[in-house]
Amino acid sequence: MGNVEKIVIGIESTAHTFGVGIATSQGRILANVNSVYTPKSGGIHPREAAQHHSLIAPEKIKEALKVSGISPSEIDAVAFSSGPGMGPCLRVGATIARSLSLKLRIPLISVNHGVAHIEIGRLTTRCRDPVVLYVAGGNTLITSYKDGRYRIFGETLDIAAGNCLDVFGIKAGIGLMPNPEIKSLKGERFYYLPYKVKGMDVSFSGVLTAALRLLREGVKLEDICYSLVETVYSMLTEVTERALAFTEKKEVLIVGGLSRSRRLREMMEEMVKLHDARLQVVPHEYAGDNGAMIAWTGVLQLLSNQTISIEESRVKPRYRIDEVEVKWLN
Ligand code: FE2
Repeated sequence: MGNVEKIVIGIESTAHTFGVGIATSQGRILANVNSVYTPKSGGIHPREAAQHHSLIAPEKIKEALKVSGISPSEIDAVAFSSGPGMGPCLRVGATIARSLSLKLRIPLISVNHGVAHIEIGRLTTRCRDPVVLYVAGGNTLITSYKDGRYRIFGETLDIAAGNCLDVFGIKAGIGLMPNPEIKSLKGERFYYLPYKVKGMDVSFSGVLTAALRLLREGVKLEDICYSLVETVYSMLTEVTERALAFTEKKEVLIVGGLSRSRRLREMMEEMVKLHDARLQVVPHEYAGDNGAMIAWTGVLQLLSNQTISIEESRVKPRYRIDEVEVKWLN
């Protein structure tokens, strides 16, 4: 491979975001172009999101090429997010990636979406070997690298932490995060909500149900938001602390959409101090789903020869991060 800089284009389409990123083997992000599908009401309908992705794709690919200033002939490989995610959305990204691979005659790379969140976090914060809290609207897990894989220490047993806060926000009429957290700043009274940590796993559906019950009972919205935010973040901090104590690592990295939360960062900051560890948080731009993280993880996989054939390029809606062989960390 010598010292020639490799260039990878990455396609993200697991849920509501369609993203195109371009990254190089020197860790440069040349483009990160994303478009988020927002439904008029309620949650994401997979088919509608998929339709949005296929309509917007050609324009976003052109935009990414333009921003990066490279031509298609300079691209060395194409990576796509193969899961976990919504089937119809995943298939749009996979189809585009396969056609680019055929058209440009370049290798195809299947990237795990969760691993990509971690890798863009490591790249942008220069973390080496952290305990990772991956928190978002669709995922909540605590993981760390050991013996060739990102091992899952704990995860949600039901809904994701971000989903819990988002659904409450929608039902309370204040909208998605960060609105529930902003409201929580004005809260004064704490109401007990079912705090559920089971071993290293967490459960948020009971918290959500109890918060919605308080809402129906007419409890002050700011107080419910305050109780909800504090309870959810305490649970996340507790399990991350346990993983940190167990692994004796010295870095904690927060990735995923919820890493933008100020209060979560504050609580985690206090916790890591007790363990002489450092807290790193993925930059805002790379917190939510994005194309750059797929492109960058594609680079790592390309350099470890982890490419696949078109025949093998099926999408995996339930793809877990511990199924991935993390060869680039050996
Ligand atoms: Fe994500």
